[in-house]
Amino acid sequence: MARTDDDSWEITESVGATALGVAAARAADTESDDPLINDPFARVFLDRVGDGVWNWYGGPELPAEVVAAEPDMPQRMQALVSYFATRTKFFDTSFIDAANAGIRQAVILAAGLDARSWRLPWPDGTTVYELDQDRVLDFKATTLREHGAEPKANRVEVKVDLRQDWPTGLRQAGFDPSAPSVWSIEGLLMYLPAAAQDLLFTRIQELTAPGSRLAVEGLEPDFADPESRAQRRQRMDRVRELMAKTDSPIEVPTTDELWYFEERDDVGDWLRHHGWDVTVTPSDQMMASYGRAPAQGLGDAGPAHLLISATRT
Ligand SMILES: C[S@@+](CC[C@H](N)C(=O)[O-])C[C@H]1O[C@@H](n2cnc3c(N)ncnc32)[C@H](O)[C@@H]1O
Repeated sequence: MARTDDDSWEITESVGATALGVAAARAADTESDDPLINDPFARVFLDRVGDGVWNWYGGPELPAEVVAAEPDMPQRMQALVSYFATRTKFFDTSFIDAANAGIRQAVILAAGLDARSWRLPWPDGTTVYELDQDRVLDFKATTLREHGAEPKANRVEVKVDLRQDWPTGLRQAGFDPSAPSVWSIEGLLMYLPAAAQDLLFTRIQELTAPGSRLAVEGLEPDFADPESRAQRRQRMDRVRELMAKTDSPIEVPTTDELWYFEERDDVGDWLRHHGWDVTVTPSDQMMASYGRAPAQGLGDAGPAHLLISATRT
């Protein structure tokens, strides 16, 4: 589905469905023999929406026809599960470290089906602001309420579009810019035009007091590499054609149509120039540090990412 400047979505469509994809990867890792993370809520979301392409992250769910035609698909899916588990652990650690350092305001940008408000051991007095589009947050809250789960922090929903004026909504929801805060930007930047990314960081700068922390999943400079993009696209086209010949109701989306392949500022450099202490770790290195092997020999397995931690001085 092509993007527009003010598009919005249900959880099962367009950018919304990417949150289900991440939930499926978290469920697959949680339920694996050697889990890196524990997200018992990821499966609850998947059970609620039923079958979809997102379930392909759990290897056995891959249709036999697809594996026959694309034999390295299970390995690709496993590489993505390992990456998403690594990313989840990196952001979990960032929030827990900030809480241990006394920070009591957390802001999750593009929260999607991130269940950290329910999952992490937040200290008393912590408020977690979750920002995303209204239908995504409604799906999450309704599903977990009906499941009987209670948040472990004061969870505040801020239903906004991150390309619009979200700081007003955040302040009105009670956020205090004069107190330190901890933020996450996970699985978001590729879905924002470059100008919206610039504005996002400018606004975070205006809302963060010294001592605030920020964790970001940044894009590698070769994110927009046309060759790997074309390979990914061709592979998914082949899979889509194959699925169209079966009885399966599953639609295979063209995920990279949802991404903005635009020249962007380097996030680490931007933060350094704006008074943050920054550590940038390539995702492969972070995976290795958690004992997870990065994809070997898969070429265009997916763009590599940078996991960035920053503290405002
Ligand atoms: C790949 S999911 C990541 C969700 C979550 N951060 C995680 O890692 O599980 C992308 C999320 O970004 C949200 N998103 C993307 N663009 C957005 C926008 N302009 N405004 C609000 N939310 C947005 C989507 O609704 C979706 O929940």
